[in-house]
Amino acid sequence: MPQPIGWPNDAGELRLLMSSCVNRRGTYPSEFRAILSLERHREVSAEIVSWPGYASTPLLSLDGLAERLGISTLWYKDESQRFTLQSFKALGGPFGVLQVLRQVLRDRAGVERVSGLDLIAGAHRNYVSDITVACATDGNHGRAVAWGAELFGCRCVVYLPSAASSGREAAIAALGADVVRVAGSYDEAVRRADTDARQHGMLVVSDHAYPGYEKIPRDVMQGYSTLVEEVISQLATEGVSRGSAPKLTHVFLQGGVGGFAAAVLSYLWELYGAERPIGVVVEPHGADCIYRSAEAGKPTPVPGTPHTLMACLCTGEVSTIAWPILRDGADAFLTIPDVDALQTMRLLAEGAGQDRCLIAGESGVAGLAGLIRVSGEKEARDALGLGPQSRVLVVGTEGATDPEIYRSIVGG
Ligand SMILES: Cc1ncc(COP(=O)(O)O)c(C=O)c1O
Repeated sequence: MPQPIGWPNDAGELRLLMSSCVNRRGTYPSEFRAILSLERHREVSAEIVSWPGYASTPLLSLDGLAERLGISTLWYKDESQRFTLQSFKALGGPFGVLQVLRQVLRDRAGVERVSGLDLIAGAHRNYVSDITVACATDGNHGRAVAWGAELFGCRCVVYLPSAASSGREAAIAALGADVVRVAGSYDEAVRRADTDARQHGMLVVSDHAYPGYEKIPRDVMQGYSTLVEEVISQLATEGVSRGSAPKLTHVFLQGGVGGFAAAVLSYLWELYGAERPIGVVVEPHGADCIYRSAEAGKPTPVPGTPHTLMACLCTGEVSTIAWPILRDGADAFLTIPDVDALQTMRLLAEGAGQDRCLIAGESGVAGLAGLIRVSGEKEARDALGLGPQSRVLVVGTEGATDPEIYRSIVGG
């Protein structure tokens, strides 16, 4: 049993829920293929990797931290350099923008095929420049949609909840989007974007599916699976140097509306079947809509206004298309107090042992913070089968997306 990394101000008990309805049979269910599939992934990924500035992000082995946590290997997929946006969201929102533009071009101009590169080169600009896309965001999705709109040449309006930071607002505005502040939570901003879009003829590009709006979020989620493909090929390269491909035993994935975790779990499920790693979804204590839904066996919102310093995970309702995949695909659900995320940011910035120093934002570290939390608790380790043989993947889903907040937490 390793020594727990005992955080100072250790606040909050461990909240770990082992799933009672995880499907551990081999085959990825056919009804989920209509949401996410490897076949569709190949199409979407081919488009995304063609965009200027695309590069696979690093997969790092944090050996110092793995030793402290008493596991064999800790893989850290570092999304802090994804395109120029510093978060994995750059894989989803811009693809959603492209899809709505394709739809309009098909309906209005009979254009059957158009690529992102065509639009970047100025094709159909007379139609595209008249189109406005809209979305709600805690920060990263809106920045990604604004970037996509700028790249492909359309207009963009982004709705921010009152708690979103001014640094994140400035980053979105710098990409040419109009920003609307909503006096309320993220979920209220989602509803406002939807209503305004209907009234003003804007096209919603949301990462959050809700009844009556599921097609674009599905495309957005499918875009995220590009990072899993990168991980699999990076592990295969590692395998060449180690003599065999190092298989993953666990993944710890942070959850906001659940699209990210569902995209990763679905890919691994379809690829590995019954041999897929144990999947744990990690959320903030104060924004735990997936945990609550798993406990109740159906989508269940957070009562009142969700609250957490992990700003991009501050959501009160699970995405309707992510939910069934999380319900059947995740093995466990975990919530953590904010202090865990802050301490994990500091730990990464210092580097454990010989590990390199890493910059990661509050929401980006939640999966790793969840792993650290359970690693120090014998019962939780046993329940999850975590031990000296475990090879765990976490995804650092963002860098310092608000540099001022990052400095205030980590220091200089
Ligand atoms: C950095 C970061 N990590 C994780 C997530 C969670 O993704 P999802 O809302 O799809 O669960 C978000 C969502 O915005 C994010 O910005």
